[in-house]
Amino acid sequence: MILKQEMTNVIYHALDGKVDADRVYQLIETPKHAHLGDLAFPCFQLASIFRMPPNELATDLAIRLTSPWIERVETAGGYLNIFLKRSYVTSHVINEVNTLLEAYGASRMGEGHVLTIDYSSPNIAKPFSMGHLRSTVIGHSLAQLAEKCGYKTVKINHVGDWGTQFGKLMAAYIKWGEEAQVKANPIHELLALYVRFHEEAEHSPELNDEGRYWFKKLEEGDREAVSLWTWFREESLQAFSTIYETLGITFDSYDGEAFYNDKMDDVVRLLRDKGLLVESDGAEVVPLEGLPPCLIKKRDGTTLYATRDLAAAIYRYHTYEFTKSLYVVGNEQSLHFQQLFKVLKKMGYTWADTMHHISFGMMLTDGKKMSTRKGQVILLEEVMNEAVALALANIEEKNPSLANKDEVAKQVGIGAIVFHDLKHDRRHDIAFSLSEMLKYEGETGPYVQYTHARAASLLEKGCYKGTPEIVKLTDESSWPVIKYLMAFPEVIERAFNQHDPSQIAKFIIDLAQAFNHYYGTVKILADDDEKESRLALVSSIKVVLHEGLRLLGIKAPNNM
Ligand code: ARG
Repeated sequence: MILKQEMTNVIYHALDGKVDADRVYQLIETPKHAHLGDLAFPCFQLASIFRMPPNELATDLAIRLTSPWIERVETAGGYLNIFLKRSYVTSHVINEVNTLLEAYGASRMGEGHVLTIDYSSPNIAKPFSMGHLRSTVIGHSLAQLAEKCGYKTVKINHVGDWGTQFGKLMAAYIKWGEEAQVKANPIHELLALYVRFHEEAEHSPELNDEGRYWFKKLEEGDREAVSLWTWFREESLQAFSTIYETLGITFDSYDGEAFYNDKMDDVVRLLRDKGLLVESDGAEVVPLEGLPPCLIKKRDGTTLYATRDLAAAIYRYHTYEFTKSLYVVGNEQSLHFQQLFKVLKKMGYTWADTMHHISFGMMLTDGKKMSTRKGQVILLEEVMNEAVALALANIEEKNPSLANKDEVAKQVGIGAIVFHDLKHDRRHDIAFSLSEMLKYEGETGPYVQYTHARAASLLEKGCYKGTPEIVKLTDESSWPVIKYLMAFPEVIERAFNQHDPSQIAKFIIDLAQAFNHYYGTVKILADDDEKESRLALVSSIKVVLHEGLRLLGIKAPNNM
């Protein structure tokens, strides 16, 4: 926040402290055109407080702004246009970045606050869908952003490990299953058993009774049922962990739906005590204004997804004392979360206002939703493998003597998939195209990684020895780069507050482009008295690109 905070202080004092520093901070703008200054401060809103026309206030303020950061101030149309002292700012920013390194851009906004974030959350015995991949990638980035903003995070994988489908799966396994096959290829085998169960149940409906029978046994804690369930769960989680390892993602908790089984009675009792439960066709529901009722208990006495989410929310609030709670789940569950939050509000929990459904659109191939059905698991793994293979082929062509090719290919291939996902506004559907993702030019992950590696190689070639105390850059094209470096802390804060990793993605693309322009116009390694300063600039660009990629969950190799 260095620049904006600095300017806030200066303006705050010039206003004799008569306006809240926070308000001043919010008012500061970044003009779109360079002739309007590096920063602008509109005086319209404050004019009435000071009983002056906006332009007069601006003129009055202009005289009183003094700071080593400011070169000159102009006034126009009720605005203060502030031009920064480039030499001072350049030196200050580069020193700041190169001293703080990966801590640059961190803030204390969330200090003392806990944020729970529910993401990934795949379903046991089912393939890990594209939707789960999106949730995983977006959730991971938001968790990184939260930590960067000072929050303590609790990363929760709310695995779908409960429900009547487990009864069916057990019945199917007992009839047709083979232990060795399930062990060899768990998700595939379990899914096949589940699908077969449904096919056969079409003409032998009595199978459904067997399914119910097994689910009942599971709910009653029957040894055999529980041990099968535990085994399926472990095999599935094991398979999912390969994906998490590839992505470099970890969780603090795998408490899924089943974890809340013994907490359901309490929730139902609470709802009843508060007079919120209503009977409807033998089921119990909470009626909601403007929304369909939230189904809490089915006619047969079993509870539902929503009931478990109510229990989970209450449990999380009491266990983690969160001040903010995020659920990264696809658009198609919007109604579910609206109902969930509304029921919690009706229960009198004011903290329900701190919960947010971080929704996202679908991944489309040929304009169609990628189906979660058969074959999908192969697709996700195939996609990852293919991305890595393509990245490797690229390395073989461009840099065949690279030392750790496989490792780098993995970082680039996976980085490409992740970047492609995060660079879009998450709420929109996105079209899937592997070849687009892997391009070294354009707005792609590999482009940013490549630019980062370019910076690394310049530092090596130029034998960079550290930042000079006074950084001196007289060329024109370094200034836009400096302005990006300066904006990074603010971009992080905005991306976090708006739950929008795409702002980080866009930012690092812009920075990479500005740097590549600089690289094209200035001889960075030329032996003159600004060489050390240019290398210091390159070093700070490298730091920020690296950190930006890290916030998205992407690795930044030094060579590629
Ligand atoms: N397992 C669910 C699904 O795949 C997502 C769970 C999201 N988290 C939650 N607390 N409901 O659709």
